[in-house]
Amino acid sequence: MLFGQKVHPLNFEYGDSLTVAEDHARLDGRHFTAMVRCETIADFGLRLRFDNGNVADKRQYSDAVLPQYREGRPVPPRRGFNALFRSELGSVELGASWLRIALANGARLSTTREGIGVNGEKLILSFDVSEVAGFYGFGERTKRLNKSGDRMDFWNVDVVAVFPHTYTRDDYDPAYASIPLAILKTGANYTGLFFDNPERAVIDVEQAQPGQMIYQSMGGNTELYVLAGPTLRDVVRHFAALTGKAEVPPLWSIGYHQCRWGYETEADFVALKQDFAKFGIPVSAFWYDIDYMDGYRVFTWDEVDFPAPGAFNAGLKESGIRTVTIIDPGVKLEPGYSIYDEGKAREVFCKTQSGRDYVGRVWPGDTVFPDFTLEHTRAWWAEAMAKYIRDSAIDGVWLDMNDPATGYSAAEDMLFDGGRVPHAKYHNQYAHFMARAGVEAFDRLDRNARPFQLTRSACAGTQRYAALWTGDNASSWGHLRMSIPCTLNLGLSGFAFNGPDVGGFMGHTTAELLVRWYQAGFLFPFFRNHSMLDSKPQEPWEFGPRTLQAIRAAIRTRYRLLPLLYTCFFQHYLTGDPVLRPLLYEYEGAAFENLDDQFLLGDSLLAAPIVHGDGQGREIVIRGARRQLRYVTLPPGWWFDLNRGEWIEGGRTFEYAAALEETPLFARDGAVIPWYEGPLHNDPGELDQIELHLFLKERPGRFFYFVDDRRSRDYREGRYNTALITADSGYRAIRVNVMESGQYPTGTVGFRPVLYGRSGEWQAVVVTNGESRQSTLQPATRDWLCKSLPVLA
Ligand code: GLC
Repeated sequence: MLFGQKVHPLNFEYGDSLTVAEDHARLDGRHFTAMVRCETIADFGLRLRFDNGNVADKRQYSDAVLPQYREGRPVPPRRGFNALFRSELGSVELGASWLRIALANGARLSTTREGIGVNGEKLILSFDVSEVAGFYGFGERTKRLNKSGDRMDFWNVDVVAVFPHTYTRDDYDPAYASIPLAILKTGANYTGLFFDNPERAVIDVEQAQPGQMIYQSMGGNTELYVLAGPTLRDVVRHFAALTGKAEVPPLWSIGYHQCRWGYETEADFVALKQDFAKFGIPVSAFWYDIDYMDGYRVFTWDEVDFPAPGAFNAGLKESGIRTVTIIDPGVKLEPGYSIYDEGKAREVFCKTQSGRDYVGRVWPGDTVFPDFTLEHTRAWWAEAMAKYIRDSAIDGVWLDMNDPATGYSAAEDMLFDGGRVPHAKYHNQYAHFMARAGVEAFDRLDRNARPFQLTRSACAGTQRYAALWTGDNASSWGHLRMSIPCTLNLGLSGFAFNGPDVGGFMGHTTAELLVRWYQAGFLFPFFRNHSMLDSKPQEPWEFGPRTLQAIRAAIRTRYRLLPLLYTCFFQHYLTGDPVLRPLLYEYEGAAFENLDDQFLLGDSLLAAPIVHGDGQGREIVIRGARRQLRYVTLPPGWWFDLNRGEWIEGGRTFEYAAALEETPLFARDGAVIPWYEGPLHNDPGELDQIELHLFLKERPGRFFYFVDDRRSRDYREGRYNTALITADSGYRAIRVNVMESGQYPTGTVGFRPVLYGRSGEWQAVVVTNGESRQSTLQPATRDWLCKSLPVLA
């Protein structure tokens, strides 16, 4: 399959007549007839169904949209010279070869004059984007945050297999996940376009033609959702409402994870555990890559290296360390291997046109692939996986190679539903249905426990079932830089829980790169160091005491900030807001449209990590210490510099010099940041004693904190509290009010204020659920980056 070819609009035919019927408008060309229907979806979107007469199979195969939104409210067209679909959300005017959208909030979007075309099964939609300044979303992508000038392919691939020599570049396309969502920024108004078609598609944003954004599907019918703004937050929330949100994850899964392809035996993990303890670094989970298996057979353990995995993993858990194992979909084709035999007997594998089971070649050699689109396959897989999870006493699973990677054989030969459904209908959804089957496995074990799955591939909606990491990156500065816009765009595309391999997977990392990657990554939603077999080891202590000190500081700060991260995940579950956000999520202005080496965690903490080094960036030496220079853009208002402990006025861009131990980090005026100050353990525990870090200069503080049991799914039935926290400061006095409401017992969490950026003695009144406590407060500043921790050898 070739990637990177241009879409040529001259290969399409454009309609020359329009007919308006009762419930649709019809476009006719010489070689096609297309019916267009319009519906409203709840109160946030319009859906345009393009029903191309050349598409024989008209069924919708996409599982992206939640069932409750699959039926919309039809909007009948009005007859006239053109067709006019008018609803309370806005109107769509359709000519024979073009359309114009006018949303009630004032947003306008049109195709070009020859804007709707057909070529066989293919559909082309060319939008006039000459007024659009920013293009965001698009799922998992390389390059910059703003996709103007990019052409993106929506076809999941095993990147390294397709681009063996270009992995160190940052411009390969496609990647592992396909989410065809375009969020357009025109002035201060955002509009989302979600092209729901699970087959391969291409979106060209001003590469073929400046001023045009061209969508082209390769087959099947497309349903176009127009998601109304006006704000970016509105569009992102609507997309999350439409395709689903991530459940609230188990607390341990948002801690720090240690992984490496190359940990092979129990002894390796014992040594790892000892090292983490010795160096004073908390770790939430150890990850088993493919070597734990017996000959790479899924759901097995190598009996020599892991004689009693259940007992071993249970032992790790007693030290607070969870375990996660890799699971590949490919089942070794080997009569006598029980999973193969069972699957064969139950007819669960994908077929070829010849009627045989489709065979690829992955780690175990010849492999067959479960057809997860079938309910009976998912049930079979869930049963086997549940047994395996229980017997192995693992806590989470890592779904890899589900692009699907088929190695030696062309993936296109893999058919679904007993050979009846062509590959293209489910290719991009293979990982999605595998993840769905995985959640069924966890549900079989305990419906009320929170599952944890990490997946490599995904499509729109997979966030309902799994977190995502961005695949096989490289240990290079370019890939560190790329990881920020990539995670931000994933967050705007519904995937809040994601992150890269910290330190880089392929190639050899350096001490400086590793430190800077941790400093960028410790606030990412998913935080895991992972590296490839035979690459230079990159555990936190591998590069000597100074590197260790800086990395340890970042990981420890992650654990201190778990209450904030957890709040962000909870907020995502309730609203769809991403955990990590580009600045333009919270601030309007051209200054933020292309800003992608900075980000916000929630709405109050701003990180501007150092993403150059090893002689590449602008370096200066101050009092003998090397520092990296970078530009930092702070939105208007006051910001507290957490390195230097001082207030800085925003609304400007300035230079910042950071030594290796420093990463530019700022809290906005009015921020209330929940912080865990107790002893650090691998298992983060209950987080029931929280400090409220108050950053009050000119603005009062306001924050919502969520209280629940942190482990069950009871919150889905409303068993959680929302604590509204407000904080005001007067003359040498602060007043903090915490008011919990909801269906969870109140008062299970204790809050203590810590005041930043002030001096002298202060009177503090803390009113918790109506009960008032007075104290005297010395303004303090916690050592966020733990610079005062002793350096360990
Ligand atoms: C794939 C995964 C990588 C893993 C390796 C071996 O390349 O993306 O994370 O380490 O396979 O399982």
